[in-house]
Amino acid sequence: MPVIAWTESMSVGSDALDADHKMLIGMINGLGQPDADFVALFHALVEYTCGHFEREEAHLEAIDYPGLDSHRAQHDAFTDRVSDLLRQYRETPFERSDSRVADFLWTWLKSHILIEDMKYAAWTKARHTL
Ligand SMILES: [Fe+2]
Repeated sequence: MPVIAWTESMSVGSDALDADHKMLIGMINGLGQPDADFVALFHALVEYTCGHFEREEAHLEAIDYPGLDSHRAQHDAFTDRVSDLLRQYRETPFERSDSRVADFLWTWLKSHILIEDMKYAAWTKARHTL
């Protein structure tokens, strides 16, 4: 999988949450390295993601975001899917060249940031310009 990068178009208007997203992207890139300790990195990524979701949901609560429940449901579905992938990998390790985990993580994260996270970014912006 090619190296992926955070871009300004992914900014959600919060430096702390942007920093979290950059960190997550860096961790996904780390998973794609040929000499990576896959299980350790994957586990660290799951842990970091859970912390990030907590921080993001706390932010959404603080700004009274009306879409918090459905946003939280998406986070929960992702956490379940990723836990499943980790369990599958532990049972039957994938080939080194198998990029299905990194591909899934990147595809999900990118569309989640660009579509779902952008909704609360736009909502915050609109609220401040009223
Ligand atoms: Fe999110």
